[in-house]
This record gives sequence, structure tokens and C-alpha cells, in this order.
Amino acid sequence: MSHINIDVENVSFSYEKEHPVLRDITFHAGGQDAIGIIGANGVGKSTLLKLLVGLVPDFSGSVRVGDVLLEKKTLPLIREKIGYVFQDSDSQLFMTNVYEDVAFAPRNYGLPEEEVAARVEQALSQTHTGHLRNRQIYRLSGGEKKLVSIATILSMTPDILLMDEPSVALDPKNRRNLIHILNECGYLKIIASHDLDFIWDTCSRVLLMAEGRIIRDGKTEEILRDGALLEQYGLELPLSLYRRK
Ligand SMILES: Nc1ncnc2c1ncn2[C@@H]1O[C@H](COP(=O)(O)OP(=O)(O)O)[C@@H](O)[C@H]1O
Ligand SMILES: [Mg+2]
Repeated sequence: MSHINIDVENVSFSYEKEHPVLRDITFHAGGQDAIGIIGANGVGKSTLLKLLVGLVPDFSGSVRVGDVLLEKKTLPLIREKIGYVFQDSDSQLFMTNVYEDVAFAPRNYGLPEEEVAARVEQALSQTHTGHLRNRQIYRLSGGEKKLVSIATILSMTPDILLMDEPSVALDPKNRRNLIHILNECGYLKIIASHDLDFIWDTCSRVLLMAEGRIIRDGKTEEILRDGALLEQYGLELPLSLYRRK
């Protein structure tokens, strides 16, 4: 179980001068928080997640994961603590078959092959992808790739799970499956998505972003029920809330 903290203080970033993408972002998370980062297209959700795993250089402010300050020389350590699920599974998967891909991280840690096999089976079982173990990656559907991508991260046993738009490309069955997986695993989770129904089903806390800033940080129940607030920032109430009205 995860008991790590992540502390983000006054983080600002721009890809190009004169175009700030993240502006003075501060938030703290810990324990088994499940945090949804929401906001319209282009507000900086993906950039924020990438920054937390050291995929964008030269930001101002600080990020601490546990007691490790994120900087170039601590990146290997940070990447053992944080598992990042890319929006695009093709950026995540690079071995030829499913087993090899899920085995890659534990092998890379130098674990004995028995332990590697146990980690792989655990991750495949958690993501209900055991039947895909010998399949070639390029033959998988988009939804299967997504679940296998998540398995490649779970086999690392990270302390923190970051996911960028995880529900994209999933059919309803796999979507429910993923919601179940996330709700079962006791990691600290940060999920960026404009799928507010998915956030509603998986997150207890929400950060609402607009123009690179965090506009609200509060309980999912409060923020996602506030239709006027969501509309002001280019979003809509989760569909499940409409149906319940
Ligand atoms: N590699 C990049 N180079 C320059 N600008 C980028 C790059 N990636 C994203 N941006 C810009 O940064 C802003 C935030 O993008 P992004 O973080 O992808 O937003 P979101 O995930 O909320 O849709 C957008 O204006 C986008 O055009
Ligand atoms: Mg994005």
C-alpha cells in the first residue's frame, strides 16, 4: 500500500517563451488519494502529468515525491516511484509480445526470473488480461493495449499511478473493468481526463484547471455537481448526474 506524498509547489512552465502553459501550480497529495485533474482541452492537464515524471525540462518551482526532489539526477529514483500511463498506448508498449512488455520493468530492476513471473501474473490478473499473455502487441485492439499498458505499470509496483485520459479507446465493458481496477488498487492515483463520468466513478478529489492554473481543488462530490462552475470552464455535468435528476 502506498503512503507516499507528492508535493507540488509554485510550479510554472512554458514550452515557448511568452506562452505560459502551467502557472503557479501548488497541490499536495498523499496516502491513497485518487485525484482527478479536469479542464477543457489545452488547459495543461497532460503537461502537468508529464512534468511530474520529468518529461518536461526547465520548469520553475519544485516537485517532491516522498523526500526526493525532482531534478535530473533523481529521475531514475522518481520513475521507480511513479508509474505513468501514457494517453497513447503505442508510446508505452515497445516489446513484441504482452508478456515481455509486462516483464520489462521488473527485469530491468534485476529481479530474479521467478519474481518477474510472479509480478507479471499479478499485473495480468489485476487487469484481466491473462488471456492476452502470449499475444503480439500489434495485433491487440486499442482497449486491449490500454489494459496491457496499465499492466506494464502495475508490474513495476509504483507508489503513485498517473494516468492521462485512461478511458479513451475503451468499450463500455473495459471501461467498467478499468474503473474496478482503479478502485481496487490502493495506490495514490492522479488521473487527467475530460471524461467526468470516469472521474466521478474513480476519484474522491478533483483539481479543476483553466489556462494553466488550478481554479478549484476540492471534493469530487462538490465540484462535479456544480453545473454552473463546470459550464464556466467549458465542461458539463457528468451524464450519470443528469440521469439521476
Ligand atoms: N510539445 C509541445 N510544444 C509546444 N506546445 C505544446 C506542446 N504540448 C502541448 N503544448 C501546448 O500546451 C498547452 C497545454 O497542452 P496539454 O497539456 O496537452 O493540455 P490538455 O492535456 O489539458 O489538453 C496547449 O496550448 C498545447 O497546445
Ligand atoms: Mg491532454
